[in-house]
Amino acid sequence: MARSWPVSVRWTLLLLVVILGWLVIPGVAVKRESFKYCSQSGFCKRNRAYADEVSAKGSSWSSPYELEPSTIQFKDSQLHGIIVKTTSENEKVRLPLTVSFLESGAARVVIDEEKRLKGEIDIRHNSQIRKERYNEAEKWAVVGGLDLSKSATLNANTEEGLTKVLYGPGSSFQAIIRHAPFDVEFQRDGETHVQFNKQGYLNMEHWRPKLEPEEDSPEDQSTWWEETFDGNTDSKPRGPESLGLDISFPGYSHVFGIPEHADSLSLRETRGGSGNHEDPYRLYNSDIFEYELNSPMTLYGAIPLMQAHRKDSTVGVFWLNAAETWIDIVKSSSSANPLSLGVGSKTTTHSHWISEAGQLDVFVFLGPSPRDISKIYGELTGYTQLPQQFAIAYHQCRWNYVTDEDVKEVDAQFDKYQIPYDVIWLDVDYTDDRKYFTWDPMTFPNPISMEEQLDDSERKLVVLIDPHIKNEDGYFVSEKMKKQGFAVKNKDGNIYDGHCWPGASNWIDCFNPEAAKWWSTLYRYDKFKGSSPNVFIWNDMNEPSVFDGPEVTMPKDNIHWGNWEHRDIHNVNGVTLLNSTFKALTSRKKGENRRPFILTRSYYAGAQRVAAMWTGDNQATWDHLAITLPMVLNNGISGFPFAGADVGGFFHNPGPELLTRWYQTGIWYPFFRAHAHIETRRREPYLISRPHRDYISQALRLRYQLLPAWYTAFHEASVNGTPIVRPQFYVHPTDEQGFALDDQLYFGSTGLLTKPVVSEGANSADIYISDDEKYYDYFDYTVYQGAKKRHIIPAPIEKVPLLMQGGHVLPRKDRPRRSSGLMKWDPYTLVITLDKNGEADGTLYVDDGESYEYQRGAYIHRSFHFQDSVLSSHDIGTKGSKTAEYLKTMSHVKVEKVIVVDPPKEWQDKVSVTIIEDGVTTGTTASMQYVSQPAGKASYAVVKKPDVAIGKTWRIEF
Ligand SMILES: *[C@@H]1O[C@H](CO)[C@@H](O)[C@H](O)[C@H]1NC(C)=O
Repeated sequence: MARSWPVSVRWTLLLLVVILGWLVIPGVAVKRESFKYCSQSGFCKRNRAYADEVSAKGSSWSSPYELEPSTIQFKDSQLHGIIVKTTSENEKVRLPLTVSFLESGAARVVIDEEKRLKGEIDIRHNSQIRKERYNEAEKWAVVGGLDLSKSATLNANTEEGLTKVLYGPGSSFQAIIRHAPFDVEFQRDGETHVQFNKQGYLNMEHWRPKLEPEEDSPEDQSTWWEETFDGNTDSKPRGPESLGLDISFPGYSHVFGIPEHADSLSLRETRGGSGNHEDPYRLYNSDIFEYELNSPMTLYGAIPLMQAHRKDSTVGVFWLNAAETWIDIVKSSSSANPLSLGVGSKTTTHSHWISEAGQLDVFVFLGPSPRDISKIYGELTGYTQLPQQFAIAYHQCRWNYVTDEDVKEVDAQFDKYQIPYDVIWLDVDYTDDRKYFTWDPMTFPNPISMEEQLDDSERKLVVLIDPHIKNEDGYFVSEKMKKQGFAVKNKDGNIYDGHCWPGASNWIDCFNPEAAKWWSTLYRYDKFKGSSPNVFIWNDMNEPSVFDGPEVTMPKDNIHWGNWEHRDIHNVNGVTLLNSTFKALTSRKKGENRRPFILTRSYYAGAQRVAAMWTGDNQATWDHLAITLPMVLNNGISGFPFAGADVGGFFHNPGPELLTRWYQTGIWYPFFRAHAHIETRRREPYLISRPHRDYISQALRLRYQLLPAWYTAFHEASVNGTPIVRPQFYVHPTDEQGFALDDQLYFGSTGLLTKPVVSEGANSADIYISDDEKYYDYFDYTVYQGAKKRHIIPAPIEKVPLLMQGGHVLPRKDRPRRSSGLMKWDPYTLVITLDKNGEADGTLYVDDGESYEYQRGAYIHRSFHFQDSVLSSHDIGTKGSKTAEYLKTMSHVKVEKVIVVDPPKEWQDKVSVTIIEDGVTTGTTASMQYVSQPAGKASYAVVKKPDVAIGKTWRIEF
C-alpha cells in the first residue's frame, strides 16, 4: 500500500468508490526527484570519484593500504593484523583486520578502525551517539554458521609479502593475502574466483576532526560534515566514515542477486554504455511510489548477497552492512590476461561496494554450485521458515474491504462462484482513525463474527499493523510508548515526530529489547481485542516510510536505542520490527503452538526467517507483470523465496486479459496475493465477466491442485535454502545459453517448467529447454524434446504454458475445495513422467500445516521411485515422539489415482496392477487403463483407486 491521497479526502473518495464502483485515476509516476542518484549522495559520489582517480592513474598508482607484517597472527583459523592506511598528509590510520575461516567453508573478512573501537574520537554537536563503527548487523542477520574451521592452516609454501591460508573442504580453498598493497585472492582448486581490492578501490574514510578545509585539499570535502537533499539537512556528527571495496570475479560474466530492484535477473553494468545503467544499484530501503522498471533504483528491501555464475561454477559474497549501500558493476574482457581465464570464459565482472557507515564485513562463498550458495548463506542467515498451509494458498486483498459485512459478502461470493481462496486481508482503514490494535467502531463493529464466518471454511484474516504510532493523547499504544521511552529519537535525543498514515506519528524502536518485548505483548488476544486465532499480521511501511522525511524515510541522524544513528542501521530497521512481531504471534496465548504468518515490505538478509515479502506498489501494466518474474526469482536465489507481487497490479485497473494473465503468472509466486489500490475498481475474481472468470478460476484451481508440491518445495527451502521457484541457471548450471533467462521458471524439484505469458495478445510461449529429456505438456501430454533450443507451446488466453520434465513423480490433490484447510484429508493423485531410462523420482512432505509438532516427528516425508515397472514409496523422515500418533491420524489418507505419462508400449494390454503395502502381498490389485493418444502426444495409463496410504511404505507393480 502506498501514500496517495491526504486523509481529509479519503472519506470522500471512499464514498465515491462505493457509489460509482470505479474512478478514473489520474496519471501518477514515481517522484524520481525525491530519491537520490549516486551523484547526490556524498559518500557514493566520493567513492566513485576515488575509483575513477585510481583507474585514471593506472600502474602509476598504488593503494595506500598495507597489512603490517609484524602484526599478523594466525590462531584457531583466524588471521589478525593491522592494515595501515597512509593518508595524503602521511598520517597513519590503523585498521584492525580479522579474517575468519569457517567450518562451513565460508571466509569472513572484517576491517574496523582502531581509533573508533577505542573511543578515541570526538563527535560533533554534543551528540550522544556511539563512537564505534556499527557492528551489530550480525545480530539481526546472522543466526549460525559462524563456527571456526578446525582445519584451516597457513600454507608454508609461500613467497615474501604474502600470507596464504588453506581452508574449506579437503583444504581445496586458499586465501592469498598480499601485504602491500593489501589485497586478497580466494582460490578454489588452485584457481582464483574472487578478488578483493585488485582494482585498488578499498577506501575506509577514517575519523578526523573538523578543520577549516585547506584551499588546496585534493579531496572533495563538500559533503563531509553536512549534506542537504530535498530540503533536509543531515548533521553528520561523525563526519565522513564511508567504506568502499572492489570485488572481482575473474572469468565470470553473470552476477545475480542484491535484491530488491525492478530489473533483470542477470545484473547489468552500471557505468553507462548501451543497455547499461548510469547509476550503481542502490540498497536503501525506501517507500518508492510507483517504481520505475529496469532500474538500479532502490526499493523496499535489501539483501547484499551477490553471486557470480559461469559454466560449472557459482561463487558469492555477502556484504554484511546495514547502512545505505551502492554497488557498481563493470564487466571487462580479460583476454589481455589469458592466464586468469577459466575454461570457456572470457569476461570478468568487477563489483564496487560502497556503504555510508559501519564496519567492512564480507563473507566469501566459493560454491561450486548454486545450491552450495543457498545452503551456506542459509546456514548463516537462516532458512525460510515452514509456513502454515494456508499461507501458500491464495490471498485476497484490497485497500480496503470497508466493513465487516463487506468481508463477509466477499467471502460468500467466492463460495457462490466456487472459487477457492484462503485468506482475506484488511488494509489500514479497518482501524479506528489509523490507530493500530483498534477497530473502527462504525465499520468493523463486530470483527469476531467476521472471523468466525471465515473460520467456518478454515479461512484466515490478515490485518495491517505498522510501526508508526499515531501521536494522540489517550491512545494507549502512543501513551505507553512515549512514557517508557520506546520511540525512536531525533538527533537532539527527543522523541522523533513525523508524518504517516495517522498524521502526526512516532515510531516504535525495536532495537530496544524492552520496547520489542512490549510490542510483542500488544498482539495478545486479550490486548488486541477483536482478534482471534485465525488473524495474522501484515507489517507494512517498515522501511520506515515517513511521508515528510528525507527520501520518504527517517533522517539519518535520528537516534535508536543503543545510541546508534539511523544511518548505521537503516536497512535492518524493518527486520527488528518483524522479529518482535514474530515473537508476538508465538505468544498470543499461553499454550498456543502455531506458526506465525507475517508479510513484510521492508527486509534485509535474515528476514526470510520470520516473514514473507511482496514487491510493493506495482501497477496494472504488462511491463509490471513481466518484471515480477525476475524479481521473485532473484529473491529466491538470494535466500528469501517466500516472495510475490500484487496480482493484478496495485495501481490502475487491469483489463480482463491482463488480469487473467496475471493470475496465471501469480500462481507461480510462492506468496500469491491479489491486491489493489483504493481508487481501483473492484476486481475479485467472481466479478470478472466470463469467460475470463473461468480462466482465472482454472488458474486458481491449478494452484490448489499443486499445493502438496508447493508445501514440499517450502519444506525443502526450510531445510536447505533452495529456492521454491528456480531460474534456468540454477537448474541447469552448465548450459550457458540459459544463464540470463529470467522469464521462465522451474517449480521446486518437481520438474515442472513454466513460462507465464506476460505480453498482450500472445497465443503461444517459446519455452527454452536446456536438456534432452522429454517434456510433456501438463494438460494434454504433447511431447517436446530437443536440448538448447526454444519450443513453441500453444498458450491461448485460457492456457498456462506448463511442461513436465521426464523423470518425476508429482503429488497433487485433484478435488476442488473452497480452501486449503478443507483439503486436509483429501486423497492424492500421483503423476509420473519417465525419464530416458524409464525411471522417475519425487518427494512429498506433509504435516498438520499449522503447528510445530513436525519438530517432534509429526510429519510424513516420502520419496517415490519408479523403476522396472514398479512404483514404490519410501520413508525419508526421521522418527520422533509424535510420529506414530500423526501417522495414525493420516492412515485413512490414500492415493486415489496414479497417472503414468508415456508408459512402456507393453502396458497396452494390462488391465490391473498389483499392490503391496507394508511388505504384505495380499493379492490386492487395482484396475489400470491404458489410453492411446495420436502421434505427438504421449499415451498414458491411469491406475484407479490403488488406495495405498500416503504415510505407508508400498509398491505398485505394473
Ligand atoms: C530475534 O532477534 C533476537 C536478538 O537478535 C535473536 O536472538 C532471535 O533469534 C531473533 N528471532 C528470529 C526468529 O530471528
